[in-house]
Amino acid sequence: MEIKNICCIGAGYVGGPTMAVIADKCPDIKVNVVDLNEDRIQKWNDKNLDKLPIFEPGLAEIVLRCRGRNLHFSTIVNENIRNADLVFISVNTPTKKYGLGAGKASDLKWVEACARQVASNASGHTIVVEKSTLPVRTAEVIKDILEASQTFSSKGMQVNTFDVLSNPEFLSEGTAINDLLNPDRVLIGGDNQASIEALSDIYKSWVPSEKILKTNIWSSELAKLTANAFLAQRISSINAIGALCEATGADVREVSRAIGADSRIGSKFLDAGPGFGGSCFKKDILNLVYLCEYFGLEEVAKFWESVVTLNNWHQSRVAKLITKKLYGTISGKKIVILGFSFKSNTNDTRESAAIQICKDLLDEGAILLINDPKVNKEQITIDLGLAPETEINNLDSTINQKGCWLFVDDMNESFYNADAIVILTEWPEYKEIDWNLAESRMRKPAWIFDSRSLIDPENIRKNSFNFWRIGDGS
Ligand code: NAD
Ligand code: UGA
Repeated sequence: MEIKNICCIGAGYVGGPTMAVIADKCPDIKVNVVDLNEDRIQKWNDKNLDKLPIFEPGLAEIVLRCRGRNLHFSTIVNENIRNADLVFISVNTPTKKYGLGAGKASDLKWVEACARQVASNASGHTIVVEKSTLPVRTAEVIKDILEASQTFSSKGMQVNTFDVLSNPEFLSEGTAINDLLNPDRVLIGGDNQASIEALSDIYKSWVPSEKILKTNIWSSELAKLTANAFLAQRISSINAIGALCEATGADVREVSRAIGADSRIGSKFLDAGPGFGGSCFKKDILNLVYLCEYFGLEEVAKFWESVVTLNNWHQSRVAKLITKKLYGTISGKKIVILGFSFKSNTNDTRESAAIQICKDLLDEGAILLINDPKVNKEQITIDLGLAPETEINNLDSTINQKGCWLFVDDMNESFYNADAIVILTEWPEYKEIDWNLAESRMRKPAWIFDSRSLIDPENIRKNSFNFWRIGDGS
């Protein structure tokens, strides 16, 4: 079974970069990425590569090489499904907002819609690959829908046939291209050997065979949820220890280094921060919690839910701490927020810790001057549910008792009369701040809050700043 034509449904953070890399590494395969969102597709096709809908280092270069050659972005879904030997389902699977399982279970309506669309449009034999992160046993639902539409010739031979595989994606935003080019592993779950090999052959174009793991379909689905749960658990663990460090005089960076040197623990994912964000950790853990509850495993559910509970508590702890340090009131005080994306090197703000922290500060009546190198003010407006002020001179504390915010392109301009600078995203440019300039412009006593351990304390201590950084009890 040789794959010549791929259709990927969903041109998002996963579908776009993943298909770009497949197209780049497999020039003989035609890759069509389709989406219902016309605006998104238009941006993928924009001649100006700065306008691609997703910012990922290295992505634009690949798109430039492959787009129009064997990589195509369009809203033509049915025809591209019809022509495909293999269809990736890479659509969103957010937490359900209503009905059964609301607040925890994944909303599979987009996945189901894709399965139905494949069922009614595919022709010949089609391999359907779950790329989205899905609850265990979703493949059963997809199979049911596909099998119900299988057609037979007058002689009883099957004309339309399907096979379902699970191939979860492990890329991280900000390093997506490198993660795709050099994955720790590629996971393929399924029970039809020929289909597994066909998908595996695509990856073998650039991934060593020993890194391509093959499992049964349920293990593959569960491994994805488990990987995210373990990663998020490490962050909640280190953030919890960070709070204890602050109370006891220990330093979380030293604790991380000490425990990370133990090869059984490992050094990655032990950076204390403002709390994990991103579209997936919270949603995937809650999905796991829902599954455990569904199967009557209450204690297991509680164990995993505590990872999210700790993260929520930690984010509110950071906002409270800022308020306390600024004499218990921040109403009318100017606070510079550096970074709004959930991590550096991405324009994604989904579940960013900055959202909750800024909302809490606004509730206290603060005036926030927000800067981010890649997130625009329209996105921040949506996330905060509050329109920005347009003029820095309009920011009058007595008028804005509920707090207000302004987007600042030039962070140096935002330092005038600010009481505090809060670093929420580890963008490299924030390492280069001219602290003498900042000090000369800020109101005294001025505070620096570094939730990312980004800046060298020595640089700060040369000035008259009050300095707080995450997990530093010293
Ligand atoms: P996304 O929201 O960026 O993109 C999903 C796209 O699917 C949207 O553009 C939407 O318009 C489109 N879509 C939905 N239904 C459609 C339909 N019926 N036909 C055509 N298009 C449709 O989501 P994402 O971040 O790319 O995530 C996709 C999946 O991958 C999720 O399950 C997520 O959990 C998983 N995942 C995400 C990441 C990540 O870093 N973002 C990493 C690994 C796995
Ligand atoms: C995460 C996983 O790392 C990917 O393997 C997975 O494919 C993806 O989720 C997904 O399923 O969506 P991502 O959310 O893009 O990737 O980014 P991460 O690097 O995991 O960071 C998540 C959050 O944890 C960020 O807010 C980050 O700042 C925070 N983090 C990460 C820390 O606070 N400390 C760390 O040591 C690492």
